[in-house]
Amino acid sequence: MATVNYEVRDGIAILTLDNPPVNGLGAGVRTAFKANYEKGAADDAVKAIVIAGAGRMFCAGADIAEFGKPAPKGTPALQPVLDQMEAGAKPVVAAIHGVALGGGAEVALACHFRVAQKGSRFGLPEVTLGIIPGAGGTQRLPRLIDVKEALTIITSGRPLSADKAKALGAIDEVVEDDVLDAAIAFARKLIADGTKPRRCSEQTASIEVARKNSALFGDFRKSMARRNRGLEAPFAAVDCVEVAVNKSFEDGLKIERETFKKLVASDQSKALRYAFFIEREATKIDGVPKDTPAFDVEEAGVIGCGTMGGGIARSLASAGIAVTILDTDEAALKRGMKTIFDNYDASVAKGRLSKDDMEERIGRINGTTEMHDLEDVDIVIEAAFEDMAVKKDLFGKLDKIVQPDAILATNTSTLDIDEIAAATNRPEQVVGTHFFSPANVMRLMENVRGEKSSKKTLATVMKLSKKMGKVGVMVGVCFGFVGNRMLYAYSRQSNFLIEEGALPQDVDKVIYGFGFPMGPFAVGDLAGLDIGYAIRKANPALRPEGKRYSPIADRLVELGRKGQKTNAGWYRYEEGKRTPLPDPVVEQTILDVSKELGIERRKISEEEILQRCLYPMINEGANILEEGIAQRASDIDVIWLYGYGFPRFRGGPMFYADQIGLKKIYDVMSKLYDTHGDWLEPAPLLKELAGKGKGFADYAK
Ligand code: CAA
Repeated sequence: MATVNYEVRDGIAILTLDNPPVNGLGAGVRTAFKANYEKGAADDAVKAIVIAGAGRMFCAGADIAEFGKPAPKGTPALQPVLDQMEAGAKPVVAAIHGVALGGGAEVALACHFRVAQKGSRFGLPEVTLGIIPGAGGTQRLPRLIDVKEALTIITSGRPLSADKAKALGAIDEVVEDDVLDAAIAFARKLIADGTKPRRCSEQTASIEVARKNSALFGDFRKSMARRNRGLEAPFAAVDCVEVAVNKSFEDGLKIERETFKKLVASDQSKALRYAFFIEREATKIDGVPKDTPAFDVEEAGVIGCGTMGGGIARSLASAGIAVTILDTDEAALKRGMKTIFDNYDASVAKGRLSKDDMEERIGRINGTTEMHDLEDVDIVIEAAFEDMAVKKDLFGKLDKIVQPDAILATNTSTLDIDEIAAATNRPEQVVGTHFFSPANVMRLMENVRGEKSSKKTLATVMKLSKKMGKVGVMVGVCFGFVGNRMLYAYSRQSNFLIEEGALPQDVDKVIYGFGFPMGPFAVGDLAGLDIGYAIRKANPALRPEGKRYSPIADRLVELGRKGQKTNAGWYRYEEGKRTPLPDPVVEQTILDVSKELGIERRKISEEEILQRCLYPMINEGANILEEGIAQRASDIDVIWLYGYGFPRFRGGPMFYADQIGLKKIYDVMSKLYDTHGDWLEPAPLLKELAGKGKGFADYAK
C-alpha cells in the first residue's frame, strides 16, 4: 500500500516513503507523509528527522498518472507539506539512494541537509513531461546553487550524478556505504553540534550574485531557444527561476504553483506524459509474458562494417558487450574500423566521452574477415547489403557456424524476415533488429517478430534493446515494417506536392514548423539520395504498375546530385557547410517534370502541405494497426518519436490524429482520394473509427 513508514531510532524519526515501484508521491503518500512528519515534529523525544525511500530508490517524484485528475478529497498538495517541513524547527536530512527525481528531488530540497549514496542521481525532469517542478523546485534550487547551473538542471531535465550534485552544492555528503546509516549519523552530528536547520528558502548568496548579472536570463533564453523550439515548459521554468532571483520566496512559490497548474492542463503536457507511458507500454508484447526467460547478451557479432554496422557495434560496445565485426572485404573492414575509431576520437574531442571510457569501448570491438570468429557469440546482427539472395546465403552459412543457442538477427529495413529465417535450421531464433541511422545515436530499435520467432528470442532482443539504452518496439513482418512503410506514404506525397506547385523549401518549412528537426527533403539530402534511389530500383513494391510515381528524385540522382555528400541534392550546399540553399537547377528540374506530366502548377497552402504529408502517413498507420503489424497505436507513436523525430510534444502521429479527431482526418483523406486517387484511399479502420466517433487509442484487436 502507498504509505510512509515511521520509526524512531534513538531520538531520530525515520520517515520511509514506501510506494513501489518508484515511491511516487501519490495522494496516499502525501497524506501519510504529512501525518508522520507532524508526529515526529510533535514528539519531544525526537530531535531530528531523516527522510528515506524503501526499495530501489528514494523517490521518482509525483505520481504522473494522477495528473489531470482531481485529487481525492482532503489529500494535501505536496508544496504546502514540504513548506511545513522546511519551516520546522527540527533538522531534517534526506537519505538519497537510486534516484531523487522531480517531486523526489523537491522533497530532498525541502530537507535541511542531503546525504546521497554514490551512484545515485538527482534531477528535475519535469520539463520532459511538459510541466515545471511544482513543489518549490524552481525556488529552492536557485537559492542553493549557482543560478545558471540551476537553470540548466531545470530546463534540460537531465539528472546529475550524486558527485556532480555535491560539487555544485546541491548535496552535502556522498557516501559509499548504506545511505540510511550515513544519514542517521549525519543527523546525530547535527544534534550533537546543535546545528540549526539550513533552509534553502533562506539562502541568498547565489541569487545576490545573479541579481548583479543583468544579462543572465536574456543570454540563457537565447542559448536554449533552438534546443527547445516549440516547447512551453522550459521557458516557463526560466520565468519562474527569474522570479526566484527577483521576488520573495513566497511570491515565487505562488507563481510556480500557478504556472504548474496551467502547464499540467496543456496539450503539450498531455502529449509528453503520454509519450512517457507508451514507451513503457511497448515493452509488453502479446504472447510473451513478462517472466519469459531471456538471456543476457554478453558477446555479439556484427556483419558489415559500413555506417550501420559501425554504429551498431558502437552501441553494443557502449553497453558493455564484446563485439566482433565481420566484413569479408579486408579493405572495407579496415576503413570501417578506422571510421569507428575516428568517431570515438570525435566524441572525446567534443567532451562527450572520457578517454578512459573510449579505450574501454574500443577494447571491446574486434574486426575480422573470418566467419569462424563468430562461433561463440550470443547474437549476430547482420547489417550487410540489402539483398535477399545475399542475406539468405549469409544466414545459411551463419547457421552452420554460430553456436546453436545464438540468435541470428537482421537489420533489414525492407526484406521478409520469414524468408531469411527459412534459410536456416533455427527459424525460431531468427528475428529483425532494425536500427536507425546513426545507430549509435538514434534510440529506436524496431524489432521484428518472424512467424516462427520464439518467445525467448523476442524477450531476449527486447532485453538487449534495454541494455543498449534503446527503446525496443516489437512489430510484425511487412514491407518496410511500421516506420518505413509510413515514411513512404509521407515522402511520396511530399514529392507529389512539388510536382503540383510547391518547392522543397516550402514543404520543409511547414514540416520544420510543425516540430520535426528537418523536413523530408533536407532529410533526404542528409541520408543520401542515392540510398533511396537504390531501394526504389530494387523494390518494385515502391513503384507498382498503374500507380502515380514521381520521377524527380531519380532524376536528381541521375544528375549526380546525391545530397550533402556531393554538395547538391534537393538543395545546394557550400563547401563544408550543411545549410540547405534553394537551387535554381532543382527548381527547373521540378518545373520540367510538372510540364512533362501535364500538371498545371498551383499555389499550395501551408495547411494543405501539412495535411497532405501527415494524414496519408496516419492513414497508413491505420492499415498497419488493422493488419496487426503493430500491436497498438501507441507502439506506432513510439516508433515515430524515437526513429523519425516526430515532435514529442505532439505525442506521435496516432495520438496527434486522435487529438484532431479521426472524423476530420477521414474527411480530408476522402477529399484527397476524390481529387488525386490511387495512393490516398482512406483506410477501412480509419473510416470505421471515425464513423463511431472513436480514436486509435480506443482500438484493441
Ligand atoms: N509516476 C507514475 N508512474 C511512474 C513514475 C511516476 N513518477 N515513474 C515511474 N513510473 C512507473 C512506470 O510507468 C513503470 O510502470 P509499469 O511497470 O506499469 O510500466 C514503473 O513505474 C517502473 O518504471 P520504469 O520502467 O521507468 O523503471 P526504471 O527502473 O527503468 O526507471 C525511473 C526508473 C528512472 C524512476 C523512471 O521511471 C523515471 O524516470 N520516472 C519518471 C521520473 C519523473 O519524471 N519524475 C517527475 C514527475 S513530475 C513531478 O514530480 C512534479 C512535481 O513537481 C511534484
